[in-house]
Amino acid sequence: MFKPLPFQAVKLNEKQDSQMPTRREVLKTTALALGGIALGLNACSDNKQSSSKTNQSQTMTHTLPELPYAPTALEPHISAKTFEFHHGKHHKAYVDNLNKLIAGTDLESKTLEEVVAASAKDASKAGIFNNAAQVWNHTFYWNSMKPNGGGEPTGKLMDKIKEDFGDFGKFKEEFKNAGVTQFGSGWAWLVLEGGKLKITKTPNADMPLVHGQTPLLTMDVWEHAYYIDYQNRRPDYAQTFIDKLINWDFVSKNFELAMK
Ligand SMILES: [Fe+2]
Repeated sequence: MFKPLPFQAVKLNEKQDSQMPTRREVLKTTALALGGIALGLNACSDNKQSSSKTNQSQTMTHTLPELPYAPTALEPHISAKTFEFHHGKHHKAYVDNLNKLIAGTDLESKTLEEVVAASAKDASKAGIFNNAAQVWNHTFYWNSMKPNGGGEPTGKLMDKIKEDFGDFGKFKEEFKNAGVTQFGSGWAWLVLEGGKLKITKTPNADMPLVHGQTPLLTMDVWEHAYYIDYQNRRPDYAQTFIDKLINWDFVSKNFELAMK
């Protein structure tokens, strides 16, 4: 069994002085990621022993994780046709490309999170980072939604949203705005940073973990996420995601792990 993660190496290396995360913050990120495994987020890596009996090193074949629900489960908000392409072709292509790019390199033996950490901020490994991060981001995105989702969170997460955003309506407004205003392809996120909830947006494959932030929720705003069902109406997709699809159980679990 391989040891997954962690992102603390990235955080520690990229942060400067006053931005240096505390040990507690590092542990939070680790805890979140470990929790992610329990939620199936690490299902995209299979560990295989080397076929060589004399070589004890291991190789990692990343595999496409199954959706956490049936492809029809989010209809009419997200169609099975969208999942056919988004999960079956786009997400799969990232997995396949990643495996090709790391074959025969020292990254071949690393977990997905370790590949992301090792390739972030390294221009010579941009292709590897883009595919590895997109594999991670999409798995996190599938889990950020559920059938009959949306509504409102409860308990400590709702208390924290009210504390950091003023009220739940303000959170919804800011999250939607992040997704709608992300120019071109990218992602909207709810993250925890420095003990505070924040809304962020990232372009292309970029993700909060490599910026010292703990992701709690994400919305894919690449056109491939919504074009079949909403065409160019990204605001309608974002509103539906917020009102009908967010898996607040997943977000709350991530929040609880991050706050430990
Ligand atoms: Fe996507």
